[in-house]
Amino acid sequence: VSSAFLAACRGEPHDVVPVWFMRQAGRSLPEYRALRGEGSILDAIARPELAAELTLQPVRRYGVDAAILYSDIVVPVAAIGFGVDVVPGTGPVVERPFRSADDLARLRPLEPELDLSRVIETVKILVGELEVPLIGFAGAPFTVASYLVEGQPSRTHARTKTLMYSEPGLWAALLDRLADLALASLRAQVEAGARAVQLFDSWVGALSAQDYETYVRPASTKVLSGLADAGVPRIHFGVDTGELLGAMASAGADVVGVDWRTPLSAARTRVGPGVALQGNLDPAACLAPADVVTPMVRRVLDDNAGHPGHVFNLGHGVLPETDPGILAHVVDLVHAEGKVLP
Ligand code: CP3
Repeated sequence: VSSAFLAACRGEPHDVVPVWFMRQAGRSLPEYRALRGEGSILDAIARPELAAELTLQPVRRYGVDAAILYSDIVVPVAAIGFGVDVVPGTGPVVERPFRSADDLARLRPLEPELDLSRVIETVKILVGELEVPLIGFAGAPFTVASYLVEGQPSRTHARTKTLMYSEPGLWAALLDRLADLALASLRAQVEAGARAVQLFDSWVGALSAQDYETYVRPASTKVLSGLADAGVPRIHFGVDTGELLGAMASAGADVVGVDWRTPLSAARTRVGPGVALQGNLDPAACLAPADVVTPMVRRVLDDNAGHPGHVFNLGHGVLPETDPGILAHVVDLVHAEGKVLP
């Protein structure tokens, strides 16, 4: 079956603008809260039937054009025993944060068939059930490093930047290990049937363009260029990355995620020809009633001006307090009005 989502990722002709939402599975859905229960998300991810069902819930409810695997960016580091958990309401927390060269030994290579067997099983279940493409994903080296170094979510990324600036050799070694983990995880997901991948560098917008080039781009390029022969679109996303969009594209992305701060028309100039865009409705807009959201959705579509390389999404993940009825409305509106010019 042809997919508008895959065509848009490649900038190829298709009829209707495709749409999916980052964090479309999650606490905004009553059926998610009912099924997910308490306990660590890592335990839920380790149950393939459950993880597959949580992946399918938003696809059924919204009619989105892609599914995203129910997993988390810390799964590979947790699987090799680095000692990470995801605390509800907080995010990833690391028992013994990464502090010195000794800690490199705690980042052994990933063996996907053994370490990610549950995730691979989930992908296989989903590929048998889905009528839309499944997006596999990984955390990008910088964003995963920020959790390993800080030990918990951080607003300033102060410890991460201190390590990066003061021990550049160790930093490069850390990012290189994390690139290998992300690449192995993404290849395994694609081999199991994922038809696109997204590399989440959620927090890299904390860096200047110059520091991105020096300290981050080599590792992100290793992941993305390592997938060049995999035959699937590579989406690369971060928040507050207006100044980095060009560099993120040249790291080897087919699609670059854009948040609400940068208009799609400006983003398109920055990523250059041949690179598609994903975004960029403010997730907070979806907390407003339909008559407020409608013109904001139209503004995103108008700003794209019918370009074939556009995947509609939010600029970041769905907020937990979002009314699912509003997201359903956004999907219907994008499908009704999102025209692609030949
Ligand atoms: O629909 C989807 O997008 C599902 C898959 C998904 C999850 N996490 C499930 C999840 C994806 C793609 C992620 C990626 C992820 N995880 C990122 C990158 C995306 C982004 O938001 O920028 C990051 C930074 C993480 C780390 C993480 N995991 C955070 C910050 C949190 C939130 C903590 C909280 O409870 O508020 C998590 C937990 C998490 N991952 C939830 C979900 C649905 C929250 C709910 C739960 O525990 O059931």
